[in-house]
Amino acid sequence: MPEMSAYADDPFLTACHGGKGRWTPVWFMRQAGRSLPEYRALRERHTMLDLCRTPELAAEVSLQPLRRLGVDAAILFSDIVVTLLGLGISLDIEPGLGPVIHEPLRSKEDIAGLGTLVPERDIPFVAESVRILVREAHVPVIGFAGAPFTLASYLIEGGPSRHHARTKNLMHTEPELWRELMERLASAVLASLRSQVEAGAAAVQLFDSWAGTLSPRDYERYALPASQAILEGLRDLGAPRIHFGVGTGELLALMADAGADVVGVDWRVPLDAARARVGGRALQGNLDPAALFAPADVVMREVDDVLKRGGGKGHIFNLGHGVLPDTDPEVLRRIVDHVHSRTEET
Ligand code: CP3
Repeated sequence: MPEMSAYADDPFLTACHGGKGRWTPVWFMRQAGRSLPEYRALRERHTMLDLCRTPELAAEVSLQPLRRLGVDAAILFSDIVVTLLGLGISLDIEPGLGPVIHEPLRSKEDIAGLGTLVPERDIPFVAESVRILVREAHVPVIGFAGAPFTLASYLIEGGPSRHHARTKNLMHTEPELWRELMERLASAVLASLRSQVEAGAAAVQLFDSWAGTLSPRDYERYALPASQAILEGLRDLGAPRIHFGVGTGELLALMADAGADVVGVDWRVPLDAARARVGGRALQGNLDPAALFAPADVVMREVDDVLKRGGGKGHIFNLGHGVLPDTDPEVLRRIVDHVHSRTEET
């Protein structure tokens, strides 16, 4: 979608700006991934990180759900830890587990040793993937990055974590060092997101997936300032900013205030209740990804409930978190059709 004017009455961007378009737009977090057989076929020949680092392949994977599902937005195929790769961190993404950091950051020296991210030098494949995708996709492209708290959790824990205990320990016992880490990560994330928008991404999503493990007070003190610096630092580019985390019911107002145009909501908070917390921002969400294993009539009833609570205006239909790998893509396709037809009727 190369012409900016072609976006003029685009349903996804209209909803991001709080409006009501021709239909309620729909896309799915993790729409590009293991639920699609064509993705799994490519993964037999390439590692996840190789797909991320090869622009033609990353763009191809991003296009797969557009062809099969008819969604209203494309998300760049990449991972939140790609920013860390660009900062010189040695890591892998292990199937079924997630990111594994070979030498977790534990000391002041480790943190001082983090480099500065220059996207075109350190992760040039990201902007190149976006450029190819923007040329090939007929819908807006969403760029993304992980927020500093979530990235710090991977860096410090060394991998996925249930309690984030080492991360929170650093945060509470060495607040100055924590702040330095947050600032370094925020400047890297901002640089990456700016370069994705400059390469043609029409919107960005900042994933603070694990922020919901923080109390509102700790979130405000230890995580929000860095996310705010990123979201505010993108404002001049004019691309809508989506801000998402899991289990963030008590944080929604703060996440909106951090500078989001759209607040992503997981399935735990009904959208009408979320609406009251986000001060006029648009909402994205929030069907439980596990509900997609129910019989078709039950799924569509749940979809209708999300649409009703979303209110038809300033609502981007999505799941409350990523598509689970065993999901039948045919169910995803039917949801897209259902959302489109239901909202065209109203
Ligand atoms: O379709 C899309 O949404 C775009 C691609 C995308 C991926 N990761 C691809 C991926 C996006 C937006 C992400 C973001 C991401 N990565 C987040 C934030 C979103 C969220 O889920 O909360 C987080 C926390 C990560 C870290 C990460 N990477 C996890 C937890 C995992 C899953 C582990 C697993 O195997 O279940 C990954 C790996 C990953 N990222 C896969 C994909 C398609 C699976 C890779 C594979 O083995 O093929």
